[in-house]
Amino acid sequence: MAFHGTIRPGLIQLRVLDLDKTLDFYKNILGLDEVGRTSDGRVMLKCYDEFDHHSVVLRKTDKAGLDYVGFKVISAAELEAIKDKVTKFGYKVSEVAPNTEQPGFGKQYKFTLCTGHEFHIYSDVELASDHPQIKNPDIWNKPPRGMRAVRLDHFLLYGPGIEEAERFMKEVFDMYVPEICNTPDGKRLATWITGNNKPHDLAFVEYPKPNTIHHIGFYLQTWEDILHAADLIAVNHLKLDIGPTRHAITRGLTIYFWEPSGNRIETYCGGYTAYPDSPQRVWEASQLGRGLFYFSGEMIPSFLEIVT
Ligand SMILES: [Fe+2]
Repeated sequence: MAFHGTIRPGLIQLRVLDLDKTLDFYKNILGLDEVGRTSDGRVMLKCYDEFDHHSVVLRKTDKAGLDYVGFKVISAAELEAIKDKVTKFGYKVSEVAPNTEQPGFGKQYKFTLCTGHEFHIYSDVELASDHPQIKNPDIWNKPPRGMRAVRLDHFLLYGPGIEEAERFMKEVFDMYVPEICNTPDGKRLATWITGNNKPHDLAFVEYPKPNTIHHIGFYLQTWEDILHAADLIAVNHLKLDIGPTRHAITRGLTIYFWEPSGNRIETYCGGYTAYPDSPQRVWEASQLGRGLFYFSGEMIPSFLEIVT
């Protein structure tokens, strides 16, 4: 599909407890590269197949969870147009000057959704010094490490008012909604949203507590890589949550676990190719266990209840 508006989720800043131990996980087990540190001690990282300056930022604090997520927009003109649409939708927008909050990033706009999550949008980012090759490119600069995470892929956010959040993503970000789950009385329980051909760039689950995150999803290439991730979870004594298994929702192959600070990570591959003209897939809440854990078909309550 042709891009207009947002391209992808390209940035996430996470709160972590033990910076050294957590950084060791992101670098040596998940396989990201450290790009550098900000003047206030945050660590910038990227996956090996990402071109932009960085995609993941770790901030040491006393409570794990999410600071904010960022979406890259196709052009500077679209950035201004979307900023105006955010304001018109009713959210207060403020500007973040280039190269301040995030080194290598141009001007950003930030605002908070009804779910309590802070979102940033930006269009200009410096190329990473170690970006994938462009001229007669090899498949990588150096062999991918650990779980061999290809890219930051998506995140699942928990908060109140996801029907409004879904409408915002459609009306302001020009995204579409390949898959939803409704309660018996027709209210939205969960929504999977994308601005490209991936089955989701982000998802929301209705939840009373604002600004919480269920997981951060990183893309791997194959099912064998998911099994390799499972081995690394065991060898490194990480706490496994779910999997390896398949989702019927998105059709992704997946495994979930917690990094050392307690943020849930998903490594994921596959998934159907989404198109905006495909009919929306609709799940009843009673079938959500099958939608999430297709092999067993049974809900695992802790999966839905533990968030940061
Ligand atoms: Fe996911």
